[in-house]
Order: sequence, then C-alpha cells, then structure tokens
Amino acid sequence: MRGLIEFTNFCKRNCVYCGIRRSNTEADRYRLTKEDIMECVDIGDRLGYKTYVLQGGEDDYFTDEVMIEIIRMIKEKYPNNAITLSLGERSYESYKKMFEAGADRYLLRHETATKELYDELHPGASFEERRQCLKNLKEIGYQVGAGFMVGLPKQTNKDLVNDLLFVKELEPHMCGIGPFIPHKDTPLKNNKAGTLEKTTTMLALVRLLLPNVLLPSTTALGSIDPTGREKGIKAGGNVVMPNLSPTSVREKYSLYDGKICTGDEAAECRQCIEGRIRKAGFKVEVTRGDNVAWKKEHGYNFVEEKIQAENIRIINK
Ligand code: SAM
Ligand code: FES
Repeated sequence: MRGLIEFTNFCKRNCVYCGIRRSNTEADRYRLTKEDIMECVDIGDRLGYKTYVLQGGEDDYFTDEVMIEIIRMIKEKYPNNAITLSLGERSYESYKKMFEAGADRYLLRHETATKELYDELHPGASFEERRQCLKNLKEIGYQVGAGFMVGLPKQTNKDLVNDLLFVKELEPHMCGIGPFIPHKDTPLKNNKAGTLEKTTTMLALVRLLLPNVLLPSTTALGSIDPTGREKGIKAGGNVVMPNLSPTSVREKYSLYDGKICTGDEAAECRQCIEGRIRKAGFKVEVTRGDNVAWKKEHGYNFVEEKIQAENIRIINK
C-alpha cells in the first residue's frame, strides 16, 4: 500500500488526454504547502503507510530546492519510510539531487512505446527524452516505475506489444498500467475509454514477463468498473495507492472523468481498500514494499521487515 499525495495540479505540459494539461482553462489549480504535505504524511504514518507517493503536474514552483526541503522534512521525521516521486521529466542533475536528499523511487510512465502515437499525444514533448529520463533515473539508483495507458485512441494491439517489449527490456521495478479515460475538457473528450478486459490482460502479461515487478491495480481501473481494482489484483497486481490528499483538493486533481474516491477521507480510503483486498482473497502488507529483486541486490534484511509487519498487525489489533 502506498499513500498518494497529489500535491499540485499546475502543469506546463499539454498531454492531450490529461485533465490538468496546461491548456485546460477550466481546471481549478492548487498547490499544497509544505505544511499541508507534512500533514498528509503524518496522517499516512498513523494509518500505517510506510511509503508516500508525491505526485503532481510539472510545476516550476517546485524547484529542486523546494523539493529537497520537502524530501528532507519527511525523511527527518520518518527515516524508515520510503518516498516515491512522480513529477514528470526533469534533468539528470535534478533527479540526482532529489535522490541524494532521500527520495527512494520515481514513477514516470513511458505512456506508450510507439513513437508516432507518443508524438501525437504529447505536443512539444520528446519521445526519446522521456525514455532517457527513465534510464537516467535507473542509473542514479532510484527504484523506477515505467508504465502505459491501455485503450488510447488509435492504439492497436501492435502498440501494446511494443509496450510489453519496452518494459521487458527496461526491467523497471514498478509498472503502472491503467485504462485511458476521457476527460470532458480535453481534445479527447469524445473518445472511448480503455476496457477492463484489455487492461487486466496487460497486467497479467506484464506479471508473466516481469515476475518480480511491483504492479499497481490503479484508481483508473477502479473508475471504469466498480470492482476493477479487485480484478486488477487477481490479474497480477500487487500494489494499491489509496489517496492521502486533503479532501478539499481531491476533485481538482481531475485527470479523467468519473475518478473514484474524491470524497473519502484518507482513513475511509484505507479501510475501503483493505476490505476489498481481503474480500478478493488476499492479505494486505503494510511495509515499505520495496521491489524484491532490488532488496536482494541491496542486502535488505527480510527478517527485520517481517518483524516490522508483525508489529504493525499487533498495533492495529
Ligand atoms: N506529471 C507527471 C508525469 O507526467 O509523469 C505525473 C502526473 S501524470 C497526471 C500521472 C499519470 O496520469 C500519467 O502518467 C498518465 O498515464 C495518467 N493519466 C493522465 N491523464 C489520463 C487519462 N485521461 N486517463 C488515464 N490516465 C491518465
Ligand atoms: Fe501534465 Fe498531465 S499534462 S500532468
């Protein structure tokens, strides 16, 4: 389980599918303060989350200096908890500085591994640069998450095969796969969403291709089907990212229409998702949830983590 903090919906990019793209003048923009973010982290820690995902649009307000301050602030208070960043494309130096300040992981979906499709969907952006960012992040030492959308307009099965081949080659530690869902204030508003069947098929194939990968059963999947996240877990998913953002901003982080969990308090989200996972026949593990292969590589102590998980269970009881 990872607690998701959507800390800014300002974005200088213009990804055609995205509800918080620069050109969407209907978007009600917000930024969380450092204090707001820390409050989310405190709530997260109380709920047992040992990983926080700080996600946002590409917002120049959050310079390296500001991000480093936020990362240090969290790590000083919770040195054993993991920080995942998802802030889009930045320079090698910027990724390195944030890693050195204590960030552990970085999520940057490649979105689609087909250049023509990528170029059409990302005006002013570069297919090669995004892929280079993923390589840079890996080289610096982050646990890296790539990923793609399923059911994008004009996307064919051949494009999805490209995605599978790309992730097999890159071998990311995580892979975020979710259906494309139209947003009413974007140029793709009249397109159809990706399907549950195709998305869960992709999850299953990625699980087979990369047995150790951390594979989120996404909020987008839960938004196209009332039990989408359960089905995603059954197909091979092993991560969920319940929302920790303040309820006052939830609706504003509107990437697509019909997003679930916009009105629920963090504690409600946690209980809800845990209940769903249990009902689906699985057990929730509330640890840092590092990639297994990465842990072996870094000599991480499995016994210690087991004891920590057991302690949390006792505290919860
Ligand atoms: N700005 C960062 C980045 O570019 O990686 C992180 C935020 S971005 C909103 C997070 C992810 O949302 C994207 O990687 C994209 O796959 C997904 N997303 C955006 N619009 C979407 C839509 N309409 N349907 C489904 N997923 C969407
Ligand atoms: Fe920037 Fe979507 S266009 S987060």
